[in-house]
Amino acid sequence: MLYNIITPLHKMTKRDYLARMNDDKAGCMEIAGRYGKDYWDGERRFGYGGHIYDRRWEKVARKIAKIYNLPPDAKILDVGCGKGFLLYEFKKISPDSKITGLDISPYAIENAIPDIKDRLSVHRAQDSYPFKDKEFDLVVSLTTLHNLYINELKSALREIERVGINKYIVVESYRDEEELFNLQCWALTCRAFFTPEEWCWLFNEFGYTGDHEFIYFE
Ligand SMILES: C[S@@+](CC[C@H](N)C(=O)[O-])C[C@H]1O[C@@H](n2cnc3c(N)ncnc32)[C@H](O)[C@@H]1O
Repeated sequence: MLYNIITPLHKMTKRDYLARMNDDKAGCMEIAGRYGKDYWDGERRFGYGGHIYDRRWEKVARKIAKIYNLPPDAKILDVGCGKGFLLYEFKKISPDSKITGLDISPYAIENAIPDIKDRLSVHRAQDSYPFKDKEFDLVVSLTTLHNLYINELKSALREIERVGINKYIVVESYRDEEELFNLQCWALTCRAFFTPEEWCWLFNEFGYTGDHEFIYFE
């Protein structure tokens, strides 16, 4: 199923595509791809430009919990959880939920929300997950999987499929030349530049049966 859950949030940010492209883009990509302090809390040219908790994920968590009709003790996995903002909101909505987060970035985990930090670990999306089949009521992965190469995507999607009963992922995509150009200008860490049709073909090819959303750079 195609969803439209985080697109309104994504659209709230103003982006100067050409300025980014003309600002030592390759050098910035190299630094961003380390997912260290520069990416999270450094200058905007390297990533977030300061990733600070501001409750914007509360609405998203509520929407997701409603769509998937999550029980109060739901087990939720976030692949590419960053500092754990979304998981923190799930925990606030349902204090009995059992949250787990994985991310490639030791900096993000180290600087995660203290209340839930012990539920997060450094782990790559494409590596085998230390979880049983269908262990989670819901696996989410928001704006993370397009950072993987196609061979890595295969193993990540297979692991997400394996451990989740419900699955919801969000990836970057483009629908025309302008959106491809904008995405290429803006993206610092993206490896997978696919149209929605290509993504859906890949989901099918790799056996991913969960839900998805695409974000575009209009
Ligand atoms: C744009 S951020 C999204 C973070 C969070 N999901 C959110 O929506 O706010 C991309 C995330 O992907 C993580 N990431 C990138 N490559 C990864 C990989 N191979 N395995 C796991 N996490 C990865 C980054 O560290 C970062 O947390």
